[in-house]
Amino acid sequence: MVKVVVIGSSSMDLVVTSSKRPGAGETVIGESFKTVPGGKGANQAVAAARLGAEVYMIGCVGGDHYGKAMIKNFHDHGVITKYVETIAEMESGTAHIILAEGDNSIVVVKGANDAVIPAYVQRAKPIIQQADIVLIQQEIPEETVEYTADVCKELGVPLLLNPAPARPISENVIEKATFITPNEHEAALLFMEVSQEAALKKYPEKVFITEGAQGVRYFNGEQEVIIPSYQVEAVDTTGAGDTFNAAFAIALAEGKTIEGSLRFANRAASLSVTKFGAQGGMPSRKEVEETL
Ligand code: ATP
Ligand code: RIB
Repeated sequence: MVKVVVIGSSSMDLVVTSSKRPGAGETVIGESFKTVPGGKGANQAVAAARLGAEVYMIGCVGGDHYGKAMIKNFHDHGVITKYVETIAEMESGTAHIILAEGDNSIVVVKGANDAVIPAYVQRAKPIIQQADIVLIQQEIPEETVEYTADVCKELGVPLLLNPAPARPISENVIEKATFITPNEHEAALLFMEVSQEAALKKYPEKVFITEGAQGVRYFNGEQEVIIPSYQVEAVDTTGAGDTFNAAFAIALAEGKTIEGSLRFANRAASLSVTKFGAQGGMPSRKEVEETL
C-alpha cells in the first residue's frame, strides 16, 4: 500500500443545478441544491483513499458544522486526519458551484484554507519523509506551496503539483516539483511566454496538460503524445481533475510507467464524472481495474 500525503484545501461544496446559467444582473430559477464535501485537497485525499492508498491529509477546517462534517467525511473514507486542524474562530472553506448547460462555474471562498501555513507542513515533516508521494494544489497560501516544494526536495520525496486554480508559480516551485498537472487554462497562465508545445518540450515527463474528455498531453522525450480518456456519459465533471491527480500519483508511486499511470488516471477520472458531486463518482480500485 503506497503512502500518500495530501496538502491542501477542504471545502464544503454548495451546488445548485440549473438549466440556465444566469448572466450579470439576471435571476433564474434553479432545479436543485445540495451540500457535499469538496475542496481540491480533500477531494484528492478521498480519491486516493478509495483507490487503496494510505492517506494523510494536511489542512484546516473552520469551527462550524461544515468543519465537523468534513472531518467525519475524511474518517468515513479512512483518510488520516492527525494533521487536520480545526480553527475555531474561522469559517470553513466553501465552494459555490453552479452546474448548468453541461459545465460548472465555481466561486471559492477560502475561509480556513487560508490558515494552512508552512508551520503545518513543518510539523508534518516526519510523515512527509515516509511518504511515497506528496500532492499539493493552489487553494492554500502560495508560501505553503513554496515551502512544501523546498521540503520535498530536501527530503527527496516526489511532489505532484496540481496548479489549480490558476495562479502564477515561481521558478523555484516549477523546478522542485516532480510532476505538474495543469488543465488547459492553468497551462496558458503558467507558460504565458512560450507556446504550449515549447513548454511541454522543456519539461519532458514532468508537465502533463489535462484536456477534459480528450485526455492528457505531454512530451515523452521524443515527441508530444496524447493519452486519450475513456468515453463516458458525463453527469458532473466537478472533481475530475482531483481524481485524475490522485490516481496518477498512486500509479506513479506504485512504479507504473508514465503511460500506464496516465491510462489508470484517465480511467479513474472518467468514471468520476459519471456521478453527481466532486467525490460522488470517485471509483474504488476494483472499479478502475475492472474497467481498464
Ligand atoms: P475539474 O477542475 O473539473 O476537477 P480539471 O479542469 O482540472 O477538472 P480536466 O482537464 O477537465 O481537469 O479533466 C481531468 C481529467 O479527467 C482528464 O484528463 C480526463 O482524464 C478526465 N475527464 C474529464 N472530463 C471527462 C469526460 N467528459 N469524459 C472522460 N474523461 C474526462
Ligand atoms: O476540483 C473541484 C473542487 O474545486 C470542488 O470540490 C470545489 O471545492 C472547488 O474548489
